[in-house]
Amino acid sequence: MKLPFANPRRQSVLLSRCLFLFAVALSAVSVCGWAIPTANNNEDDKPLGKVPKLPVDSLPANISTTKIPGGFNGIPAAPADNATTAEKVSLGRKLFFDPILSTDGTVSCASCHQPEHGFASPDPIAVGVGGKIGKRNAPTVINRGFGKKFSWDGRDNSLEQQVLGPLKSETELGGDIELVLKNLKNNSEYVEQFHSVFGTDSESPTPETVTAENLAKAIASFERTLTSGNSKVDRFRAAEYEALSKEARQGLWIFESRGGCWKCHSGSNLSDEAFHNTGVGFGKPNRDQGRFEATNNPAHEFQYKTPTLRDVEFTAPYMHDGSVKTLREVVEFYNRGGAPDDPTLDKKMLPLNLSEQEIDFLVEFLKALSGESVLNPAN
Ligand code: HEC
Ligand code: HEC
Repeated sequence: MKLPFANPRRQSVLLSRCLFLFAVALSAVSVCGWAIPTANNNEDDKPLGKVPKLPVDSLPANISTTKIPGGFNGIPAAPADNATTAEKVSLGRKLFFDPILSTDGTVSCASCHQPEHGFASPDPIAVGVGGKIGKRNAPTVINRGFGKKFSWDGRDNSLEQQVLGPLKSETELGGDIELVLKNLKNNSEYVEQFHSVFGTDSESPTPETVTAENLAKAIASFERTLTSGNSKVDRFRAAEYEALSKEARQGLWIFESRGGCWKCHSGSNLSDEAFHNTGVGFGKPNRDQGRFEATNNPAHEFQYKTPTLRDVEFTAPYMHDGSVKTLREVVEFYNRGGAPDDPTLDKKMLPLNLSEQEIDFLVEFLKALSGESVLNPAN
C-alpha cells in the first residue's frame, strides 16, 4: 500500500490506524448481520481511482482583494454578511490547500481544483478520498466569484453554500464535517486564525469560531480573488489590436457570428450563467440528468451550466463528464452540431460547416482567452 506521506513513521501509525478501523468496521458489520461490503468498499461498486496529488500553495504571497480584472466592470460581489478582507482570504487560502478538510487527511480542495491546471482537474471524473470516483469533471474555480448558480447543475446558490458540498460528499472530502471541524478545533493555529477573523477582540481565542459557516465564508472569500482577465482578447477589445494574432481574430469573428458560440458564452465571463443541453453524454447508458437533478423539472433534463471559457486552455479534459480531451475536439463537437439526434438538444445547437482551418481559428481564439490571474500575475 502506498501512502502519500514521505515520513515512514507516520505511514506505519496511519497503517495501524487503518487496520484498526477496518477491524472495527468488520466487527460492526458482522454484529449487525449486514452483508460484508465489496472489496473496494465503494457504495456504487465502482472501481477505485488514483487519489490525486496534493498541490502545494505556490501562489504569489500577496493576492489582491481589490484589483478589477481587465474586461470586467468590477470585482466579484460578496454577500452583505461576508465582505472580502485580506485576513479572511488568507485563512480561506490556507484551508483550500489543506488536506485537513478531508476525513483521512489525503485530499484538499486543491487536489481537484489544481492551480497549475487552471484550478480544475486533469481527471475526467473527479477522484476523492480513498480513490473513490465521483460523478462529474471538476470544473475551474476561476471567475466563479462572478457566478450566480454553482456546480454543473446549478444546485448551489452561493459560493458559501457550495463549499459545504465537497465536505459532505463521501466521494470528495469524505463526508464527515463534524470530524473535520474537530480536527480544526484541535489545531491551535487554526483556532487563532478563525478567532482573529471571526471572533470579537475582547475574547481570547476559543474554538467557538471554528464553525462550518465560518469555514465556508473564508474559502468563498478566497475563491472571489481567483479571477482571470485582461486576456489578449480583452486587450484587443480595448483597441490594442496587435494583441490578437490574425488567426485568433478570425476565430473571434466566427465565435461571434457563424459559430453561434456567443449565444451561450456571452458577457465578460463568456457565460450566460444559464443551462443548456448541448448533447454531451447523449447515448451513454444511465445518462447524467444534469439540472433535472437539482430542480426535478423534466424540462431541465440533460442541461448543464454554460462554463466560462477564460483560462480554458489549461483545464482539459472538457465538459461535465470530462469526455472531450482537447479544445480542437470541443470545436469539432460543435461543428457537428453537438448530438443532432438528441431530441432535447438546445435549439441553438446547429451544425456549423466550418472548414478545418476555421476550426483552428476558433481554437486559437479560445487560447487567447487565457488571462492575468494568480497563476499569471501582471507585472
Ligand atoms: C474530489 C474532487 C473535489 C474536491 C476535493 C473538491 N471539489 Fe469542487 N468540484 C468537484 C466537482 C466534480 C465539481 C462539480 C460538481 C457537480 O457539478 O456535480 C466541483 C464543483 C466546484 C465548484 C463549482 C464550480 C462551478 O462551476 O460552479 C466550486 C466553487 C468548487 N467545486 C470549490 C471547491 C472547494 C472550495 C473545495 C474544498 C472545500 C472543493 N471544491 C473540493 C470536485 C472536487
Ligand atoms: C446552446 C449553448 C451553447 C452554445 C451555442 C455553445 N456552448 Fe460551449 N458550452 C455550453 C455548455 C452548456 C457547456 C457545458 C456542456 C456540458 O458539460 O455538458 C459548454 C462547454 C464548452 C466548452 C468546455 C468548457 C469546459 O470547461 O469544459 C468549451 C471550450 C466551449 N463550450 C466552447 C464553445 C464554442 C467555441 C462554441 C461555438 C462553436 C460554443 N461553446 C457554443 C453551452 C454552449
